[in-house]
Amino acid sequence: MGKVPVITIDGPSGSGKGTLAQRVAETLGWHFLDSGAIYRVLGIITERADISVDCVDKIAELAANMPLSFIRSRTLLGEEDVSDLIRTETAGNAASKVAAIPQVRHALLEWQRDYAKPPGLVADGRDMGTVVFPSAEVKIFLTASAEERALRRYKQLKEKGLGVNLASLTEEIRERDERDSNRSAAPLTAADQALQLDSTAMAMDEVFQQVMQKVFATLPNLRQ
Ligand code: DC
Repeated sequence: MGKVPVITIDGPSGSGKGTLAQRVAETLGWHFLDSGAIYRVLGIITERADISVDCVDKIAELAANMPLSFIRSRTLLGEEDVSDLIRTETAGNAASKVAAIPQVRHALLEWQRDYAKPPGLVADGRDMGTVVFPSAEVKIFLTASAEERALRRYKQLKEKGLGVNLASLTEEIRERDERDSNRSAAPLTAADQALQLDSTAMAMDEVFQQVMQKVFATLPNLRQ
């Protein structure tokens, strides 16, 4: 079987990469991997089991044995639907902590690579282009200022009727960026060949158009 084409979309939380990656996958009819969801689920089960983040081997073992599956747009842990639970700030912070553990990242590597199935994969995360799929055909690095990302999150949470404070959200986002960017294992950084886009002042439609242009320029056979 030939190599399965992969598009990686990396960037910090709130940059819009999840929505973008899903739209690109749907447009092409390709598979989609939300790698952040894996770390979020692991963060939740680590907290539930009351395991300290220092117990790296125990957490790596949990990572290797999680009964996690993605069925249509739902995330299932065993039979439990955790799709909404993993979207909370608590889950995001817990994810960022377990994601800093090299043994955990190692345990999840092959599992993530197995998602590369025909006709192709769009993978969303932090290290998709640098570590998990270094030979991906197209690499995108999408960012936005911390203030803009906090504001987007604030609006989303308000729409859901949740009371939040913009200043503390901005602070949390900065802390998470700091942890994700400065860890030794697979830090958040753009791959050398990545197309870097800043969505702070760009409409998501425009971002999508630029990404699709890059995809068709690199993989002309995909253009019908
Ligand atoms: O993309 P997200 O916000 O759902 O990711 C949640 C956390 O998981 C984020 O703080 C960093 C971590 N993460 C990671 O380290 N590597 C990935 N490929 C995806 C997410």
